[in-house]
Amino acid sequence: MTDRYAVIGNPVSHSKSPLIHRLFAQQTGQDISYEAIAAPLDGFAATIARLRREGYKGCNITVPFKFEAYQCATRLSDRATSAQAVNTLSFNAEATAGDNTDGAGLVRDIEQNLAVNLKDKRVLLMGAGGAAYGVVLPLLTAGAALTIANRTASRAIELASHFPQAEIRAGSYQELAELTFDVVINATSAGLTDSEVPLPPGIFAPGALAYDMMYGRETPFLAFARSQGAQLADGLGMLVEQAAEAFYIWLGIRPETAPVIAQLRT
Ligand code: ATR
Repeated sequence: MTDRYAVIGNPVSHSKSPLIHRLFAQQTGQDISYEAIAAPLDGFAATIARLRREGYKGCNITVPFKFEAYQCATRLSDRATSAQAVNTLSFNAEATAGDNTDGAGLVRDIEQNLAVNLKDKRVLLMGAGGAAYGVVLPLLTAGAALTIANRTASRAIELASHFPQAEIRAGSYQELAELTFDVVINATSAGLTDSEVPLPPGIFAPGALAYDMMYGRETPFLAFARSQGAQLADGLGMLVEQAAEAFYIWLGIRPETAPVIAQLRT
């Protein structure tokens, strides 16, 4: 019997996850179905209950339900706990297991696809909202020396305080003057409104990578990074890598991501 999976969001019709998972399934010879399901804003838990009842094996969760998914999981991975958000649920008789593959997807895209080893690299994470929470633990696990900056400095400090063992520097953008970084990651939503985030010139070390978790167009952050001579990357690779990590959780198989990223770029 075909195993059923889905992505749940609202809205969700724009999601590339069904295409990505269809390509993974073709490539690895897996017999699965994967559809996009729009849950009503007040009906996320009911939608999950229905999928369980109908025998789905798992689902991905996208905006705006990642926190509700975190609350409704009966078992959580460390990455989901530290993210306080779940983007991958697996259903079995005993549990609704919640994981978060966003940070692993980001790290894999940077290290494998962009060939930048994060160990001991000076990494600046911009933002302290849900997108930033999702990636801190995997960045620390990769050995990055992390700084978190946010427009509202207190939120950056709050985010860093969840990792007392790590030496994370946290504060405002103004405090970044005179500092340089090997990797700068934009996890703010500023690009959605075409807003500029106030980074000082000289923030990029020679050969630095500027990574925007958004994809689809050049954000003001990437335009600034281009003007500073940085290497540029958008979030399309992360999107495919987080999907590959979910596919691995469900099926125990790692699909090849490079051909899928290439296909989505065309
Ligand atoms: P998400 O889940 O996408 O991360 P969020 O929780 O609303 O969304 O967080 C948005 C992030 O983008 C925050 O870090 C926010 O900064 P504040 O905490 O100060 O609000 C940041 N952000 C949004 N618009 C911004 C802008 N124009 N300049 C700088 N930071 C911005």
